[in-house]
Amino acid sequence: MKAKAKIKTAIDISMILLLLLLMLFPITGQEFHEWVGVGMLALFVAHNILNLKWYKGLPRGKYTAARAAQTAVNGALLVCLLCLAWSGITMSGYVFDFLPSGGGMGLARRVHMAASYWGFLLMSLHLGFHWSMAAVAIGKGVRDRKHSKGVLYALRILALAIAAWGAVCFVRADLVSYLFLKNHFVFFDFEKTALQALAEYAAMMELWAFLGYYFMKWRRTVR
Ligand code: HEM
Repeated sequence: MKAKAKIKTAIDISMILLLLLLMLFPITGQEFHEWVGVGMLALFVAHNILNLKWYKGLPRGKYTAARAAQTAVNGALLVCLLCLAWSGITMSGYVFDFLPSGGGMGLARRVHMAASYWGFLLMSLHLGFHWSMAAVAIGKGVRDRKHSKGVLYALRILALAIAAWGAVCFVRADLVSYLFLKNHFVFFDFEKTALQALAEYAAMMELWAFLGYYFMKWRRTVR
């Protein structure tokens, strides 16, 4: 792997980990959340700089259904991150506390809530859209071993099982009500351990990545 590809992979993995931490706001507390949020915004900028080629290619070539979906998700993701940056900085009580307060806290709260749950869903889909690269690497690693077919099937069944559990968590946590701001306060069950909450968010992330990955796979076969 070349140095640039290594840096890109390290940034992408870090973004996945930071996103999970950010979603655990009620457990981590506000100060930690703000610092992790700043780290996420910095990684997002770096991720975009390293993928500038994608922006340059936008006016060129044909827009298939897969490309249109990818472009729409990326555009919506950019809007979410800009909203998160503005609302996060507006509400900040630690990292950006030195900035003069311009008001708009109520709006910032609502914007931050909707953008964080949409951002979570879209980042997970985006990960699934690009998962084929990781799938090829995993496939290569497994194919050289004994019982490779069995291992690959077992991995697929595991991915399906985690996605199914993610769907149950998604419905139970009622994330749809936060996405559409039907609820203005997030309910968090403090009976849950941090590990349990982390596992549930990871499963929900895998659900959307799974759907994104198989959507792309399906579109490639119909082309
Ligand atoms: C970049 C990605 C980010 C994500 C995915 C994210 C996600 C979240 C989530 C899920 C919540 C809990 C929502 C709620 O309970 O209402 C939250 C709350 C909060 N976030 Fe972020 N956040 C991000 C960035 C930031 C940044 C950069 C800051 C500030 C430096 C920040 C400051 C806050 C504050 C102050 C709250 C508490 C809001 C309240 O009291 O209602 N966030 N964030």
